[in-house]
This record gives sequence, structure tokens and C-alpha cells, in this order.
Amino acid sequence: MKKHKFHQETEAVRGGTSLHKKNGPLATPIYQTSTFEVTDNHEQVRATDTDKFYTRYGNPTHTVVENSIAELEGTDAALLFSSGMAAITTSILTLVKAGDHIVAQRDIYGGVTKFLTQWLPKLGIETTFVDTNDIEQHAAAIRTNTKIIHIESPTNPMVKIVDLEEIAALGKKHNIVTTIDSTFATPINCRPAEWGIDLVLHSGTKYLAGHGDLICGVAAGRSDLIEQIHKARTTLGCSMDPHAAFLLLRGLKTLAVRVQRQNESALRIAEFLSAHPKVTRVHYPMLKGHMQYELARKQLAGAGGVLSFEIDGTGEDACRVSEALSLFTLAPSLGGVDSLVSLPVLTSHAMIDPELRKKMGVTEQMIRLSVGVENVEDLIGDLEKGLAVLSRKREQVGVMG
Ligand SMILES: Cc1ncc(COP(=O)(O)O)c(C=O)c1O
Repeated sequence: MKKHKFHQETEAVRGGTSLHKKNGPLATPIYQTSTFEVTDNHEQVRATDTDKFYTRYGNPTHTVVENSIAELEGTDAALLFSSGMAAITTSILTLVKAGDHIVAQRDIYGGVTKFLTQWLPKLGIETTFVDTNDIEQHAAAIRTNTKIIHIESPTNPMVKIVDLEEIAALGKKHNIVTTIDSTFATPINCRPAEWGIDLVLHSGTKYLAGHGDLICGVAAGRSDLIEQIHKARTTLGCSMDPHAAFLLLRGLKTLAVRVQRQNESALRIAEFLSAHPKVTRVHYPMLKGHMQYELARKQLAGAGGVLSFEIDGTGEDACRVSEALSLFTLAPSLGGVDSLVSLPVLTSHAMIDPELRKKMGVTEQMIRLSVGVENVEDLIGDLEKGLAVLSRKREQVGVMG
């Protein structure tokens, strides 16, 4: 873990860039090039391990963004990828070989579950899935050939938190690399490396980029791990386009202010929903009385912009509520400036077996919100209007009955 020179708002804006006085552009230039010219062949050999050789290996625009993210996460280094899935799959593939074993929590992103259950077995790598909040299950699942403990915190869509200190200690005790999908937390709300987690992964598509206009991924961690993952990235070829890296850097500059606003608005909305007569449950750990409130306060600066709630009605009713919203756009994804709404059973968890989904607590009545940076009163007004659909139905049923 690295020491921070500045507060995170400052790191978000100035991280990765030199503060030395110079004559030059304020904005980081985009090196929109596939390759780099050299003066002679000796120079060509020297360039191979730099960010001015060939863009699949690296690129100066990438370097600035990678340094910025490493600074924010408090890690030695970071790497950019063409998507969150590319960051996660490449990192995992780097750390395992045939015959190895992975322990993963059950509530992780469905795409990662698919990779672990449908792709890795073809390479002779097995995964045991364990209950998200049961450290005993994590411990019991460890075998002599376990190489990775993979977690996600907060989780989608239940916003469950995993105790990072416990997981890191378990990994260290058994000499196993701990990896976290920290997409929902962002380095503004939690820096997993500070709790001892080895490798921090993100779908940068979400909060980091923040504007719903690009797909990207990040891995951040110790330099020995990042060096190995860099080799895998170069071979697998899932590097990021320099222009997308520039957009990500622009997004990062407002990350702190966006996430702080999203934390505040999501909590207000969670409180509003908790008091609403048509809402049966709200999942947001910063709500007083939530089972994980204490852990949330210990580990997170805020619980982020995503929350989910269950309505008093059927799956059909949840559809009607989500479709009656107008400021919350009906779309998958999360973490950006625009507020979004989705039904987990039809989107993020559609590919999960209904029985397992039930075990995870994901119901047909559940609606997931990703709170953006619009005015929170306007957002609450939109939800009031959407939830009123349920009262109208009741009245109609009453009249018909
Ligand atoms: C928690 C989480 N991790 C990883 C991913 C995959 O990221 P990407 O879509 O950028 O590949 C997603 C996508 O929704 C996600 O929500």
C-alpha cells in the first residue's frame, strides 16, 4: 500500500500528472497511434519495455491514467483494459494454471460467474462458490491448490459488504492472492489495498468513467502482480484504445465530487423509500438499522449510488413502476451521471438459475436504482410518481371487485 500525498479530490483531478512547472498542454494529449517511430534499431530494442513501443503493450496516454488510478487506489501500479470483464478475466488467467482452484463468493457479477463456471473448467480450473458474508465458508473452501479468493463488495444488487480485513487475513494466512471487484465502491468510498487486499479490479465503465459513454476496465495492485498481468494483457490483447483512455481520465477528474453527491442522494432516496407504504424492503447499508451498518461505517466513506428495493406487489407491478419513471432511465449499467433503473431478474441476474437467485435474495419484486447527479428532490418526485402506479392498480382492483 502506498502513502497518499493529497486528499482524494485532489488525486482525482491531478493524479498521474507531473506537478512540475512546464510549458505544455493542461489536458493530457491523446497518443492516438498504434505504433511509435524510433531512430535506430538499438533504440527499438530499448523501447520494447516502455509505453512508446506499440499500443497493445502500452501508450503514454494509458500511462497517465494508470498512474492516476494507482494513486487513487494507493497501489504500486495499475493497468487499463478494454472492459471490466477483460480486466477480471485477464487477471484471473494470470494467477492460475491447470489443476488450480479458486474460492469465489456467490454474489459476484454474472459475467464473472459465467467465466468461472463455464470457461475455466475447460482449462482444468475449478471454483467453489461460498456465501458472501460467511467467512467460515470461505475458510472451509480453501484447498492446498487454492490460488485466488475472489470477492465483490459492495455487491449487486443487494449492496452487501464483505469484511475486507477478514478476507485479507485469510488470504495471507494461506498464501493465496485476494482479488476484489471494487466497481461498486470506487476508490472514493473504499480503498481495498488499505485493508490488505492484493488486487483491485474495476469495471471502469461505471463510476470511474462516469458518463455512460465508454467501456473499460482496471486492475490495480502490487507491482509484482501488475507486471505479470501486463504480460498477459499484451498476449491476450485486451488493451484500451487511447481515445477511450483520454475519456476515462476526463471522467476521473470529477470522480470524487460525483461519488460524494451520489452517496448523499442515494442515502436520501433510501430513507424516502424506507418510509414509503408500497415499499417492503430497501437494500442500502448506510441506512440506520441495516444489518451491516457498522461494517459499512467502518469500511466505506459512503455506500455509493446503487440501491435496490422491493415493492409490495408482483414482478409485473415492479415492471410497471420502473416503466412509469422518467428521470430514472430504464437501462442496465450504473455509476454514471444519469440515473438509471433496472429489474435485476431481467438484466444482471437473468442468466442465474431462479433457485440460486432466490438464495441470493434477488426477487421479482426488486427494483435496482443507480442514482446519478441530478437534483435529489426531482429524483424523489419521479419515484413518488412511479410508485403511485401501485395505488392506482389497487383502486382499480377495488372498483372492479
Ligand atoms: C460489478 C461488475 N463487475 C464487472 C462488470 C463487467 O464490466 P464491463 O461491462 O465493463 O466489462 C460489471 C458490468 O456490469 C459489473 O457490474
